[in-house]
Amino acid sequence: MSENYTSYEYDVVVIGAGGAGLRAAIEAARSGAKTAIITKSLLGKAHTVMAEGGCAAALQNADPRDGWKVHFHDTMKGSKWLANWRMAEFHAKEAPDRVRELEQWGAVFDRTPKNVINQRNFGGHTFPRLAHVGDATGLEIIRTLQERGIHEGIDMFTEYTVRSLLKEGDRVTGCVAYTRVDGDFHAFSAKSVVLATGGITRCWSVCSGSWEYTGDGHALALWAGAELRDMEFVQFHPTGMVWPPSVRGILVTEGVRGEGGRLTNSEGNRFMFDYVPEMFQGDHAETEEESDQWVEEVVSGKLATVRRPPELLTRDVVAKAINSEVKAGRGSPHGGAFLDISHRGEAAILAKLPSMHHQFKELAGVDIAKEPMEVGPTAHYVMGGVRVDAETQETTVPGLYACGEVASGLHGANRLGGNSLSDLIVFGKRAGEHASKRATDLAQPSIDDGQVQAAIKEMLAPLERGDGENPGLIYDEMRDMMQEKVGIIRVKGELESALEDLNDFSNREQNCFPGTSRKYNSGWHQALDLKNMVDISRVATMAALAREESRGGHTRDDFPGHEEEFWGKNLNICWMEDGEIKIRQEEIEEMRDDLQDAIKEVKTMIAERAAQQGGGN
Ligand code: FUM
Repeated sequence: MSENYTSYEYDVVVIGAGGAGLRAAIEAARSGAKTAIITKSLLGKAHTVMAEGGCAAALQNADPRDGWKVHFHDTMKGSKWLANWRMAEFHAKEAPDRVRELEQWGAVFDRTPKNVINQRNFGGHTFPRLAHVGDATGLEIIRTLQERGIHEGIDMFTEYTVRSLLKEGDRVTGCVAYTRVDGDFHAFSAKSVVLATGGITRCWSVCSGSWEYTGDGHALALWAGAELRDMEFVQFHPTGMVWPPSVRGILVTEGVRGEGGRLTNSEGNRFMFDYVPEMFQGDHAETEEESDQWVEEVVSGKLATVRRPPELLTRDVVAKAINSEVKAGRGSPHGGAFLDISHRGEAAILAKLPSMHHQFKELAGVDIAKEPMEVGPTAHYVMGGVRVDAETQETTVPGLYACGEVASGLHGANRLGGNSLSDLIVFGKRAGEHASKRATDLAQPSIDDGQVQAAIKEMLAPLERGDGENPGLIYDEMRDMMQEKVGIIRVKGELESALEDLNDFSNREQNCFPGTSRKYNSGWHQALDLKNMVDISRVATMAALAREESRGGHTRDDFPGHEEEFWGKNLNICWMEDGEIKIRQEEIEEMRDDLQDAIKEVKTMIAERAAQQGGGN
């Protein structure tokens, strides 16, 4: 029996209403394309708001020595040299214009006494570079983009979950969705489809993301034949809340450390001084005095002339250091580290970190103006994702574009904090522009009823089983398994065992039963999400098993070093063939000569600066 559905026709359909999706839709609509956004959640409820501390752009307001070359260098170095250098170049060059554009559209960034956009420090950035709005930068960016979007005449479909992409031959021609509220079905014809669905970190039990973060776009792309790249690189943000259990994983912005926050262990030691990797020696303070001097200079608004505190090493380094301290028995009472900002005083904390102050007071009963927070790593971001063309953001499947976290390339093995907000405005714009350009030359695709009915049949399957396990149980167990076996530290045996477990979870997912109702049935939504989560967890685990080295967000206890000769030059590419996930390695394209020169120039500048300050290499 065939099911009823409602049909629509658009030039460009954007899936996802976070910063990347909104920016892509704005660009497509202002180029004249008839544009829709489909989001499984409500407007404003996107992980973009979890980028609290700022948006990285070499505006040169805080330090005139900054510039696109330094930002490009920092991004490449922070990525452990695996970033797509073309994307890193576009990003570093275009981020300042995208931030100024946001300001023109009404974003109210914090300002300096000279009335220009203020910039704060974050890990891995040579100069203070993050344009911010207290500690709620992502929220302000979303607010601004939503308001702008309204004026561009974009159609919005909220609480619609896309479960399948429509294809004609090789190319994508639309998508099929169901409504979460009443379980109705909807088919969209689109000349171009843009994935902007965010990440996958809901696959881990301790994460900073909320329920939406189930790898929908990654799975849609995989099922439609697109390639995914480097899915082993998952960022564990060093500072999530660890207590009480109900809020474990909620983000504590890197802005706390950017404003001078100090990390200590149960013995009161500032342990980060012991964890400076060779590649970052010379960039960072070697003593507490030197570190405190830097904070004083930042506070007084003078240029920071000394090396940064070790708390501002890149996220991969800080997360692993906290993990090591806990394992060594020097953790805080609830299995984390102490993060203290109280020395900055209540007035400064309320001015610069108001949300953190509120969050700890309300959720943990801790006054961060008087006492330290307890923090520990939380799965926050996936650097890997759908493989895209650097310039156009088109995936390896024609007509399908991806931008923001669901796409891959810019961040390599580790993302610098603040580079996600700039990523989504730079590459959201590019995706929207190119998706709409493509649409101008194409006739409206027809909707293939056979494909729509097949997608609906698959969606209805869990409701028709009559009996089976509760999907919520499978969901929780699978996330715990990923946390335990594919977490911050990995080894071959556990990764192999995780793949076996995933076979089992896949069987259980195919036999679960969420009841029969299509209306407000969160068990049904979870049953469907499980399918993506199993496939995407498998891709991440296969890639983690294949990469026999430690680099950025991927740490193998059995392969602790960087393997420059092999893995420093290779990427993991995954795709699906006849329902099976495949993996291969591909060599990185050598960096263009002028960009290599830019890197050398910046390295020389940093070395000279360090020498003037009397330290390091
Ligand atoms: O710590 C933070 O505020 C997060 C920022 C980011 O992930 O870019």
